[in-house]
Amino acid sequence: MDHVLSPKRPGNFTYTTITMIQAKKKLNLLKIASNFIVGADVASIEPYGSGHINDTYYINNTNKEDPGYLLQRINHRVFKDIPSLINNIHLVTNHLRSKLKEIPGADPDKEVLSLVMTNDHSYYFSDERGNYWRMYKYLKNTKSIDIVQTNEQAFEGGKAFGKFQMLLFDLDINLLNYTIPAFHHIGLRLTRLNTSLQTDPLDRKKTVAAEVEFIQHRVEHMCAILNLGREGGLPLRITHNDTKFNNILLDENDQAQCVIDLDTVMPGYVAYDFGDAIRSIINTAPEDEADLNKISLNIPLFEAFTRGYLQESAGFLTENEIRSLPLSVLLFPYMQGVRFLTDYLNGDVYYKTHVPDHNLQRARAQFQLLRKLEEQYAKIEGFIWQAANTHLNKDINTNRSEAV
Ligand SMILES: Nc1ncnc2c1ncn2[C@@H]1O[C@H](COP(=O)(O)OP(=O)(O)O)[C@@H](O)[C@H]1O
Ligand SMILES: [Mg+2]
Repeated sequence: MDHVLSPKRPGNFTYTTITMIQAKKKLNLLKIASNFIVGADVASIEPYGSGHINDTYYINNTNKEDPGYLLQRINHRVFKDIPSLINNIHLVTNHLRSKLKEIPGADPDKEVLSLVMTNDHSYYFSDERGNYWRMYKYLKNTKSIDIVQTNEQAFEGGKAFGKFQMLLFDLDINLLNYTIPAFHHIGLRLTRLNTSLQTDPLDRKKTVAAEVEFIQHRVEHMCAILNLGREGGLPLRITHNDTKFNNILLDENDQAQCVIDLDTVMPGYVAYDFGDAIRSIINTAPEDEADLNKISLNIPLFEAFTRGYLQESAGFLTENEIRSLPLSVLLFPYMQGVRFLTDYLNGDVYYKTHVPDHNLQRARAQFQLLRKLEEQYAKIEGFIWQAANTHLNKDINTNRSEAV
């Protein structure tokens, strides 16, 4: 991309400077890669993928048979304790691998991420600048998609996350660390919103009265999963916690192959994985849609994901966990709206903005999505129970859903 900056452009940077910086960066990456055991000499290193959190590079070695590797600089501003994070991933991938070995037809080498060891037998390398690096084996002939296009893809996505939870259900949660404490904690998000409303640093509070009322009206209902968990009504499981669709690798035939991006894997409630994933596929409009009339629900994608998810998970979920699923579908747009609104009040310090009042627009879009979901709630809840019951021996009394 050197040509993007013209050599004649006035300023400190010239074509030669840019090229030199890039060459130095490459050399540095080569040096970092040399700390990992990649079997043969490194042949090339290139930036890879469109992830927003980590910096990812594809590495090839001189062995033509070897599909290559992904070198990732782990974002240590987001993740404060990288050794614990790597420990989680090591435990989880080992557990998944040993479980898959027992399943006829499963291929652990394709279906689980494989960390690559460093020369001194660790699974991460810290450089002299304080950056942390890890390497995975590259899974060839796979793709990750940002926007779900077909019901089949949605079904596969649901299956992948459901199976992920199911295979991990017998791994002791106490062995895992919280890589981001209180990550999906609605109580904490509401407390932060209240603080921003009180301090109101940019005098924006006066423009968000309707949104604040909308939020307040739903507080109790939206804290129900959290409260039920606190009272012991929901078990903590090992969950993924970042179930965006592009964290699944699909194979060439759109079949889910491997769940990736395991940095946030830690103890959590299954409903959080479900609700977060549904939020990312059910909206027919972009997350920041300004025209609220364009926001509607893609029910077929929701149904397909739900069928896939429950096919894998219904067998181990408790009644309360199933009850918490429809509520989580409401919770995630609510929580995301609260986060956008808080950032708007704070002066857009966390989410990058591209148009005036972008975070307010995003919050409004989330709340509109929530309104649409509330309108269809009976249908959503009914479908979840129907899908769960097809995999359960007995029909559970759905009339008890007021419990959450
Ligand atoms: N082992 C792998 N094999 C092939 N592609 C991968 C692998 N791991 C990650 N990717 C690709 O790299 C992208 C970024 O990786 P990810 O771990 O999700 O980083 P981020 O946290 O930045 O989202 C993914 O969206 C996927 O396309
Ligand atoms: Mg990712």
